[in-house]
Amino acid sequence: MYTDKVMDHFSNPRNVGEIENADGVGEVGNASCGDIMKIYLKVENNIIKDVKFKTFGCGAAIATSSMVTEMAIGKTIDEALELTNAAVAEALDGLPPAKIHCSNLAADALHEAIKNYKESKA
Ligand code: FES
Repeated sequence: MYTDKVMDHFSNPRNVGEIENADGVGEVGNASCGDIMKIYLKVENNIIKDVKFKTFGCGAAIATSSMVTEMAIGKTIDEALELTNAAVAEALDGLPPAKIHCSNLAADALHEAIKNYKESKA
């Protein structure tokens, strides 16, 4: 039911952990299942240098968190804000329809972390 890419990112998630003195932190929860995702950012000259995540959630949530970290690293803040939930799911070659809501956490947590970064600089 899961694509090879989903299984790969679930079994071998990239960028797990947290960043000390992160420039931005975002946390979102999924009200229906209670899962939580937290994303940490390191930003230099408006470029996302590093992203780490901690996800207390299902396999699809872990795979999408892992994928979103890979997609965000190296992007400018504005480019990363344009990363959509659909783009993350697509990069994983799709998710089963029942699991699409899980993938919504990833880009949302990234956007929250960017918002937090922008607020801390304001
Ligand atoms: Fe909760 Fe997937 S079941 S995020």
